[in-house]
Amino acid sequence: DSVCVLQDVDSTNSYLMRGDLLTSGYSVCLAERQTLGRGRRGRTWHSPYAKNIYLSMAFGLSGGAEVLEGLSLALGVAVANCLSDQGIQGVGLKWPNDIWVDGKKLAGILVELKGEAEFGWKVVAGLGINVLMSENDGRGVGQPWTSLELVSGKQTHDRSLWSAFLIESLIETIERYRTNGLSSLLDDWSKFDILAGKEVTLSGVEGGGVCHGVDSRGRLLVDIGGKVTVVNAGEVSVRPNE
Ligand code: BTN
Repeated sequence: DSVCVLQDVDSTNSYLMRGDLLTSGYSVCLAERQTLGRGRRGRTWHSPYAKNIYLSMAFGLSGGAEVLEGLSLALGVAVANCLSDQGIQGVGLKWPNDIWVDGKKLAGILVELKGEAEFGWKVVAGLGINVLMSENDGRGVGQPWTSLELVSGKQTHDRSLWSAFLIESLIETIERYRTNGLSSLLDDWSKFDILAGKEVTLSGVEGGGVCHGVDSRGRLLVDIGGKVTVVNAGEVSVRPNE
């Protein structure tokens, strides 16, 4: 395993995507600032200096294409469990893996593939979590957001300590996912699922639908006009109504 901590980088995900992947174990990269932080769906991830956690982890994962679908959810569960174990209240997951508190985004996860390996996939998973970001630092973030400081009312969050807790939870959960797949994580998922039973708007679907949790592979189940439809992450974006 390896850990690197950088001052400035374009993106911790890009950094690990460029480097050689260890043949086994985990490579972790943390940075104080990202100049080209990336979010899902081509969005940028606001990454001011010394405020938040920008963390990426590279590892190998065996299996077919379906293991990647489930991995996204597993990583969300790892982060949500870690936050709530450390006393953060009201943590929720918005499928596939946004971390929300009070209807605002606290953290996001970006899973990328470095390629296929003889054993399966080379994965780079990136986590961005807002820790100390102030209203001012966060100006220009294009969606409602929050931070650990705002949700906890405490200004003493130690980003190194939080990074250690998060890395531990991520590795533990990925190892669990390797052995058992999503099955042992789905109970946790539903505990945090903020879309369950909610009316949602789906990109490209007129009239929206109502969410009914996920299937065993982590795909979203949505009742669209009386018919339960399976939605793949990456194909459709989902947003709770008002
Ligand atoms: C999203 O919700 O859109 C995903 C955000 C992921 C942000 C993290 S920050 C560390 C890593 N490096 C990046 O460029 N992106 C991820």
